[in-house]
Amino acid sequence: MMEKMVIQGGNPLQGSIRINGAKNAALPIMASCLLLKGTSRIKGIPELTDVKTLCEILNNLGVHTKRCEDHSLEITVQDDVNVTAPYDLVRKMRASICVLGPLLGRRGAAKVSIPGGCSIGPRPIDLHVKGIKALGAKVEMKDGYVIATGKRLKGNTVYLGGANGSSVLGTCNIMMAAVLGEGRTTITNAACEPEVQDLANFLNKAGARISGIGQKNLIIDGVDEMHGTHYEIIPDRIEAGTFMIAAAITEGRVVLENIVPNHLTSVIDKLEEMGINIRISTMNRGNAAGEKVTECIVEGDKEFHPVNITALPYPGIPTDMQAQFTALLSIVEGVSIITEKVFPHRFVHVAELNRMGANIRNDDAISIITGVPSLSGTTVMASDLRASASLVIAGLVAKGVTEIRRLYHIDRGYEKIEERLTDLGAKMWRERE
Ligand code: UD1
Repeated sequence: MMEKMVIQGGNPLQGSIRINGAKNAALPIMASCLLLKGTSRIKGIPELTDVKTLCEILNNLGVHTKRCEDHSLEITVQDDVNVTAPYDLVRKMRASICVLGPLLGRRGAAKVSIPGGCSIGPRPIDLHVKGIKALGAKVEMKDGYVIATGKRLKGNTVYLGGANGSSVLGTCNIMMAAVLGEGRTTITNAACEPEVQDLANFLNKAGARISGIGQKNLIIDGVDEMHGTHYEIIPDRIEAGTFMIAAAITEGRVVLENIVPNHLTSVIDKLEEMGINIRISTMNRGNAAGEKVTECIVEGDKEFHPVNITALPYPGIPTDMQAQFTALLSIVEGVSIITEKVFPHRFVHVAELNRMGANIRNDDAISIITGVPSLSGTTVMASDLRASASLVIAGLVAKGVTEIRRLYHIDRGYEKIEERLTDLGAKMWRERE
């Protein structure tokens, strides 16, 4: 059933919201369980369609997945014969490529449908292929599949940089392919994103020997065996950033719980430069374990300043926040410039925001935003996950009613978005399209 989101704009967000576990950490960590013996219990796995899709792919590969209370997932490999991730599942989510590395590393073979392009531009996998070849795998591209074989991969040094810098899932895949390999693998120009670090920390807990975590040279010393473990996923910095911008644009006051401020340095810095008030505080939860909890209070004031933003690999402003910043800047008096260095074609949200009255000119990888006094509600089309988040943000502040079609994109990355925003005072609901 196709659904649309209806938003009645103009209500400031007020209250507290808990940030979920990071989707982009959950996906590779779930896939990495293909490497392990025994059962893993992973806490903080958000309820998203992308997570469901990966569960289907893993189930198809002989892995048992069981949802437990408080966002936990139990994962056990039961049968390790199949090595194919078919087109019908992979086409739903390009991140499915993250089964390539662990399948090859543990089962000595992998056949994964090649992900197609999408509305954010081409999605090549040349760096993934370069990396596994460097470890000694034989790779063939045939009938729309990448087919890789190689019993016990051999450690090597591999430079993983492309035209747009490092690759997040490329780094994850090579790390997962190398952990059960022979000897030392060094990934130079490794992606340093917190989600890549989370995968490395999980693998180490499961028996891997990875060092240089979060640095440009990532070192993996092969081990013979890895075992299931317990782990908790880091909070989702993109979800947090999205709610920060939603709070700011509606001139509200929102307390975000469960965040790692260090993961959001560039985003917080930019919001502060715009004149948004952000306070971070860490306090004791008051329980026997002496657990600490970090909160972030975001307050939007009337006077925002225009800023220039460049989307870069971590620790720069994340490309996954670019569309949300564009929505916010569209109503800030003055001219702001956004440059996209990670996915240079990621601007499909611009035309939709312009339909709501924004004044944004997009040329190559640059958006020039001239702030308008207000946006007006209309029917818009979600084209990808973060573009749909930017339309929700715009709808929250637009005059009148905004209808967002093709809503399924938002459920790929935001759990129960309308319930959680409604709890903060937004007026929004789903309707049948
Ligand atoms: C991941 C994130 C996605 C985020 C992106 C960049 C997940 C599930 N998804 O995607 O939300 O927007 O990182 O932070 O974690 N590239 C190549 N060759 C390759 C692979 C990538 O040229 O083999 C290019 C891409 O086209 C892009 C850049 O490298 O221009 C970065 O992409 P990459 O980091 O690989 O993105 P993903 O890992 O797919």
